[in-house]
Amino acid sequence: MSTEAIATSQPAARPVQGMPLWLLAEVTYRCPLQCAYCSNPLGFAHYRDELDTEQWLSVFRQARELGSVQLGLSGGEPLLRKDLEILVGEAHTMGFYTNLITSGVGMDEARLAQLRQAGLDHIQLSFQADDSELSNMVAGRGHFEHKQAIARAIHSQGYPMVFNIVLHRLNLDHIDSILQLAWDLGADYVELANTQYHGWAFHNRAALMPTRAQIEHAEAVTERWRQKVDGRMRIFFVASDYYDGKAKPCMNGWGSTFLGVAPDGRALPCHGAAGLPGLSLPSVVDTPLRAIWEDSEAFNIFRGDDWLPEPCASCEILSQCHGGCRCQAYLLAGDPAVTDPTCPKSPVHDEVVEAVEAADRDRPVPPLVFRTVENSRKLRSGG
Ligand code: FES
Repeated sequence: MSTEAIATSQPAARPVQGMPLWLLAEVTYRCPLQCAYCSNPLGFAHYRDELDTEQWLSVFRQARELGSVQLGLSGGEPLLRKDLEILVGEAHTMGFYTNLITSGVGMDEARLAQLRQAGLDHIQLSFQADDSELSNMVAGRGHFEHKQAIARAIHSQGYPMVFNIVLHRLNLDHIDSILQLAWDLGADYVELANTQYHGWAFHNRAALMPTRAQIEHAEAVTERWRQKVDGRMRIFFVASDYYDGKAKPCMNGWGSTFLGVAPDGRALPCHGAAGLPGLSLPSVVDTPLRAIWEDSEAFNIFRGDDWLPEPCASCEILSQCHGGCRCQAYLLAGDPAVTDPTCPKSPVHDEVVEAVEAADRDRPVPPLVFRTVENSRKLRSGG
């Protein structure tokens, strides 16, 4: 079934099962880095307009009325917004727990202090590697030393220090020194996030997919570090569904807890929704958030589990995985309304097995395609 067909054949409204507890404000797609695994749409360069300060504050107020409690400010690089301190301050006053998701590029000690004063609760700082050469290779730009300085400043200003790194073929073998770096920088939490193959990462999949041995080694090293630090640094290893043999419960179920808003105001049921052809995304510019959450086709089309076909329909773990990820179903099976092919029960699971086996084979690894404006314009199809 094509996405277009699905868009007209699904019921317009399904029972709303929850509140958008997690509001993600993608305040800009501008970014000083060019990470080859970025989850932004391939066509990000075509998002020219950004909501202004008042429009974002209206979104925050409406989300609080709907029950949102946690606000993620991300991008692109959210520090490029000059009104970030205002957004944080007002969100704090509204009662949000505020979380800044940043590369640290554009941060300095004074801005950290201003954000602290505005009420920012939490900063997730991303790294690409444990050294500057590999960082530059993956992100296309060099900011490794600056990131380290910002990590130390985050720690010294009393924020919880969350060290985030996306893992893939090029940096997984550095896992021991990555964890050493996090420890040396005083990280309270480490998120070792294996690449999820959406957006730019899907486009670069052949270059980024690791061998199974790399993943197993990284897990073993992570376990040793957990024993060594004994809870003084909490380490999360986010597994890859390609290697795991099970589909991930993406977004905890479509339209159940997550509500994203793109820089131009398009509301997103998930990070990758803009890449689903035929899915019309409502905008906060002309539609109240409650109507978007409760009544829009985009948020209802995959809400709940009762619409899923076999093999999901009769599966005993459907309530845990919700059939997996809609965007991955589209990318791998060509249809967002089928079982996520990372599930072994999917009729096209072989596609995933083949990708994993290809990563294990000795073969030339293609060059990375970086997330640049120029490349985005060429790859317009991503939304
Ligand atoms: Fe869209 Fe998983 S990223 S449903």
